[in-house]
Amino acid sequence: MSLASCSTLDFPSSRIKRRGIMADISVDTATQSNYSDIRTDHVAFDWVVDFDAKLLSGSATHSMIVKRSGVKDIVFDTDNLQISAVSVDRKPAEYKLDVKHPIMGSALHVSLPGGRDQGATVLVEITYETATENSALQWLDKEQTQGKQHPYLFSQCQPIYARALAPLQDTPANKITYSASVSATLPVLLSARRVSPDVHGPPHDGKAIGKDIVAYKYTQPVPIPSYLIAIAVGNVRYRPFSVPDGKDWTSGIWAEPESVEAAHWEFKEATTQYLAEEEKVVAPYQFGVYDLLVLPPSFPYGGMENACLSFLTPTLITGDRTLVNVVVHELTHSWFGNGITHANPSHFWLNEGWTTYMERLLRQLSDGPAARGFAYVIGAKSLDNALQQSAKHPKYQRLVIPFGEGEDPEGAYSRVPYEKGANFILYLERTLGGIDAFLPYIKDYFTTFKGKSITTAQWKDHLYAYWTAHGGPDKVDALDSVDWDAWLHGEGIHLPVKMEYDESLAQAAYDLAQRWDNARNAVENKIYFKESDLDSFDSNQIIVFLEKLQSYPPLPPSLIHLLGSIYKLADTHNAEVRLRYYQIALSDTTSSAANDFALTVTKWVIGDDGSGIIKGRMKFCRPMFKAVAAINKDLAISQWNKAKDQFHPVAKKLIDKDLGITPLK
Ligand code: BES
Ligand code: ZN
Repeated sequence: MSLASCSTLDFPSSRIKRRGIMADISVDTATQSNYSDIRTDHVAFDWVVDFDAKLLSGSATHSMIVKRSGVKDIVFDTDNLQISAVSVDRKPAEYKLDVKHPIMGSALHVSLPGGRDQGATVLVEITYETATENSALQWLDKEQTQGKQHPYLFSQCQPIYARALAPLQDTPANKITYSASVSATLPVLLSARRVSPDVHGPPHDGKAIGKDIVAYKYTQPVPIPSYLIAIAVGNVRYRPFSVPDGKDWTSGIWAEPESVEAAHWEFKEATTQYLAEEEKVVAPYQFGVYDLLVLPPSFPYGGMENACLSFLTPTLITGDRTLVNVVVHELTHSWFGNGITHANPSHFWLNEGWTTYMERLLRQLSDGPAARGFAYVIGAKSLDNALQQSAKHPKYQRLVIPFGEGEDPEGAYSRVPYEKGANFILYLERTLGGIDAFLPYIKDYFTTFKGKSITTAQWKDHLYAYWTAHGGPDKVDALDSVDWDAWLHGEGIHLPVKMEYDESLAQAAYDLAQRWDNARNAVENKIYFKESDLDSFDSNQIIVFLEKLQSYPPLPPSLIHLLGSIYKLADTHNAEVRLRYYQIALSDTTSSAANDFALTVTKWVIGDDGSGIIKGRMKFCRPMFKAVAAINKDLAISQWNKAKDQFHPVAKKLIDKDLGITPLK
């Protein structure tokens, strides 16, 4: 149905006025839904995946509960959805789709004539389809997959794109259960538990892959925020991990058949080991299934903690298990993020700061304090960069960000919530007596708020309450000594407190960087360096070495070339290492080295280097295009335009902005 043929209704303006002009960090400024008047409790999706038309069609049926008596309309978030029918309690209902807000999308108003009383239940069924242009979904042609035989579809809903998948109250403030039936010609994965066909049965229920339609049924019985809804459809296979005895959950990995064995090897030790460790430290795993899915190269993140099914970039499959920390991070979200959820984008740090802190705490518990210190050292450099890059938007340097109405949370995305957040919790751990004293508090924090969506104020109130009850006056004094305002609301490029880390694992990397810095004055450089300098380093130590080198003045071009050739950094398959090397090569925009590398770097990112594999993870493509643009903007833009259709919609949107192709909002 077209917009013009939708019925028009008068809607009370009370909802619009519920928020003041000033930033109010207790409400979600990125949703138009009236979730405090009426809330979805459960939603049932019924979808058909059409790879030819590149769209999803079907329905979303909301079971809702009235929270404010007299509510006369329900407002859902939508983005580029074609709505064809709406029913309320199984009877046709009036509805209206607002003009699209550039960030928040179109509000869908559904009329509840006569209003409803608090506690009443309402069933709302919305029939719709998606458009080809979709901010949550990427439709890949078969050439863009590893097997090159079948197309592929995947979603990325965090932070505010679930509304492009279905009409929803797209806010983390509300948690919902969901069920789904999805029909497709390829295997379907959702962020939920599979009901049928059996995961352990033949692929695609024994039907012809790519041809026959199979209806996949799923259920998510644990309430989750909308941004954890996820779908992937493609020619994927499953390999289970072995799970310790006595567990009531399963775990395994999904990937295209060509890489499922390598992917299985990369993560089979870490995944179940850390899940079990996290259970000991926090609480039992509650989602029943913890699977990993390795996506095609355009997946824009390192990992995404979709419920029951973390999505991963294929660049983690290095063959040496050095990037498993991303899996540890994503599985940790099962407690911090998916269990306790930030109530709105202002409190995103509760998800990422806590998860980063926990990820590193687990590292210390299994590998010792040096391993944790080393992770903080790597993080410190990324925090430094992020704080400096936010100089023009100092409010994004804050832990708790006061967003304005309709402001894009994506614009604030950086390492700040992760690293400032993790350092803040580490600082509190040290202030309150160290790990042993802190562990019982972590358990208590989780069990208190599990299943809830909370703000920073609620977290802090509990922190005080816990230590008042369990620690006595000393601990409360310790908490009173914390500069809360500086940590939570402070701007600037430094942490409120200078943090010390165990640097023992970083030292050798620092020493080697120092030698390269000294070599700029030497006559014959080659004699100082040999390939074996890196023999004792794993790839994370190589990263620390290269990052340390970035903190010195740029090396002369001859040394940059030598660095790349002698250690084979210029052709390593480890994208994390290659990124750091290219950052060094491009750092002095006026040097000949920068010019020498500019084209090579763009080719690496767009897969025009013989690999045919784009670097779709935004951690790689965004800084590389930015760095090349600083050297040769025309080159950056022409290379980007050549390849951008292969990238995910969110990467397209952000790199278009980075390069000035579309204006920054
Ligand atoms: N939840 C995030 C990814 C995310 C955040 C997507 C906000 C969209 C909006 C995920 O858990 C994450 O933090 N991924 C990191 C992994 C890293 C910190 C180990 C990434 O992708 O770099
Ligand atoms: Zn995360």
